[in-house]
Amino acid sequence: MSEREVLVEVKNLKQYFKLGRNGVVKAVDDISFKIYKGETFGLVGESGSGKSTTGRTMIKLYNPTGGEIFMEGDKINGRVPRKVVQNVNRNMQMIFQDPMACLNPRMKIEDIIAEGLDIHKLVKNKAERREKVVQMLETVGLNEQHADRYPHEFSGGQRQRVGIARAMAVQPKFIIADEPISALDVSIQAQVVNLMNDLKKKNDLTYLFIAHDLSMVKYISDRIAVMYKGKIMELTTSKQLFDKPLHPYTRSLLSAIPLPDPINERTRRRHAYRPEKEHNYSNDKPQWLEVDPGHFIYATENEVEKWEALYR
Ligand SMILES: Nc1ncnc2c1ncn2[C@@H]1O[C@H](COP(=O)(O)OP(=O)(O)O)[C@@H](O)[C@H]1O
Ligand SMILES: [Mg+2]
Repeated sequence: MSEREVLVEVKNLKQYFKLGRNGVVKAVDDISFKIYKGETFGLVGESGSGKSTTGRTMIKLYNPTGGEIFMEGDKINGRVPRKVVQNVNRNMQMIFQDPMACLNPRMKIEDIIAEGLDIHKLVKNKAERREKVVQMLETVGLNEQHADRYPHEFSGGQRQRVGIARAMAVQPKFIIADEPISALDVSIQAQVVNLMNDLKKKNDLTYLFIAHDLSMVKYISDRIAVMYKGKIMELTTSKQLFDKPLHPYTRSLLSAIPLPDPINERTRRRHAYRPEKEHNYSNDKPQWLEVDPGHFIYATENEVEKWEALYR
């Protein structure tokens, strides 16, 4: 695994938000991971665990409170050469949960999709611009007729397709998909996931796929990180995570899929394992430990020993 090419790396990333006079929310609190070229990296955790903040900080919507972000070996936060900024702006794109929130309601679909093309000067004239937009619409299962419409004329699934076309238009290498299917009807979710998988294969993409439960992520991710209160609790391959989850927090998430209705979801959250309630961390601090090659957990040595014993 170590010879694989790293596309994006996050090192000791922190994102704290000030709340009022002296409060602070540690939305992201010292997390580290690598994303290899060509993989789908799942980031999972309950609502409020810091997943969106992680993605938004990676794509430079926020300045990190601490830590570093790298793309293709270049540090991309802090003072960054112009060339690197341009590389990141083009090659890292984001797809959002609620496509309506990120699509300007007064802009025609053509202009929404062409925004990146204009910014990066990837088309020479109007005809070429139109041609590229139509090509993108067709790529995501829409067609030329959709180019002159406005976002409100589309269904949720179609709007997400527009969001995908918009992200894909500049031919990025890396896409952060922040709960791209959570707001969609269950019947549409698989279609959008299939489309994303197709696009990934055809275009050599790498994904950071954010989700609040494991049900879909399980099938599409090569590796998965489980996040809780700003920290990653466990990170390993999807197979390992399902065959041999070590962290009780991961196990409590796993025991709960599938999650057909919101009531269950709430009950599950109430019963989920809470690391800080089970362990007095004041004298025995948890650390980011590599327990097997590529299998990381946030725990104390004692906890790891206890949890590993479950599989003996
Ligand atoms: N811009 C912000 N200002 C202040 N607090 C924020 C901001 N964005 C997120 N938070 C807080 O940070 C925590 C993590 O939020 P978020 O990253 O949205 O979690 P998730 O995407 O996992 O649901 C939450 O407590 C949230 O209220
Ligand atoms: Mg979120």
